[in-house]
Amino acid sequence: MRDEFLDPSGDRLDANDALDEVGLRPRRLDEFVGQRELKEKLSIVLQAARARGEAVDHLLFAGPPGLGKTTLSVIIAAEMGTRLHVTSGPALERAGDLAAILTKLEPGDVLFIDEIHRLSRTVEEILYPAMEDFQIDIVVGKGPAASSIRLTLPRFTLVGATTRTGMITGPLRDRFGLVARLEYYDTDELTSIVSRAASILGFDIDATGSHEIARRSRGTPRIANRLLRRVRDFAEVGGLVKIDGDTADRGLAVFGVDGAGLDKSDRQLLSAICQQFSGGPVGLSTLAIAVGEQPETVEDVYEPFLIQRGFLARTPRGRVALASAWQHLGLPLPDGGPPALF
Ligand SMILES: Nc1ncnc2c1ncn2[C@@H]1O[C@H](COP(=O)(O)OP(=O)(O)O)[C@@H](O)[C@H]1O
Ligand SMILES: [Mg+2]
Repeated sequence: MRDEFLDPSGDRLDANDALDEVGLRPRRLDEFVGQRELKEKLSIVLQAARARGEAVDHLLFAGPPGLGKTTLSVIIAAEMGTRLHVTSGPALERAGDLAAILTKLEPGDVLFIDEIHRLSRTVEEILYPAMEDFQIDIVVGKGPAASSIRLTLPRFTLVGATTRTGMITGPLRDRFGLVARLEYYDTDELTSIVSRAASILGFDIDATGSHEIARRSRGTPRIANRLLRRVRDFAEVGGLVKIDGDTADRGLAVFGVDGAGLDKSDRQLLSAICQQFSGGPVGLSTLAIAVGEQPETVEDVYEPFLIQRGFLARTPRGRVALASAWQHLGLPLPDGGPPALF
């Protein structure tokens, strides 16, 4: 199981960390670090909608957990001066669950549906006319006496978030006015996110400290904020007043985060491929069993970063380790080099 503090999904936070996370969320588009292209597009869309006095077009944000999808939905509502309603695909079990939320909306409100790829078919089908024509049909009564009434909804903005674009159905995807993919952040961007978080939380950290944490945060703001808090714990327990690069380095080592930002589970996964499966190709489900995780977790949480950093590749025949995986683990390359990609 991945250590809690390196898990980029937000659902394994302890109470204090969860409170901090809310406080660290940027409220305005210009406080949102990085994602330049996406921010530029958003700012145009928001300005135009404001000028016309209309609701913003529906937006879909895709990308690995912890990169700022929920934050953006908060920002959009704040920038438009409207209310935000938050729900998620799995929470909307029946058609009535969605109808109840939709009928509460006021003009311009933002409805955020997290994990929108996990909506059930029936709920998704209600969403289509709601998004497109701002109408829903509600069934009243049961059996032969049942009848359906059509309700007109105010113009609202649906913001969807997903970690898996591949699982969004075509008809749903087509109903969004803008589909944007969030990218991993670079070290400079994460450095400024760490410095900002430290100043909000009142931690004393210098530039080398922020940089060291940023560098080892897997390109993910949520992880950067969490590592910052652990390094601060380490500094406090050691009686250190100020966090510098050296303190950060030692703190992160204690928590098992290596120089590339990989933790024990990442290294376990890589070494399973390199050693148990001679570099692969190995199928996802076999690999998941080898590291004791769900295949979805391996696919959504572990792999994207390992692929982005060139440790791992997905091929039609399965996962293969790349040369840098052996190097990173300090293992000799197999005779004949790593497995071919095709
Ligand atoms: N661009 C950003 N600038 C500053 N902080 C960010 C940014 N993106 C994310 N964060 C921080 O990371 C945390 C996780 O972001 P969140 O929006 O919950 O990610 P997601 O919904 O994609 O999983 C937020 O609480 C916020 O503090
Ligand atoms: Mg989220």
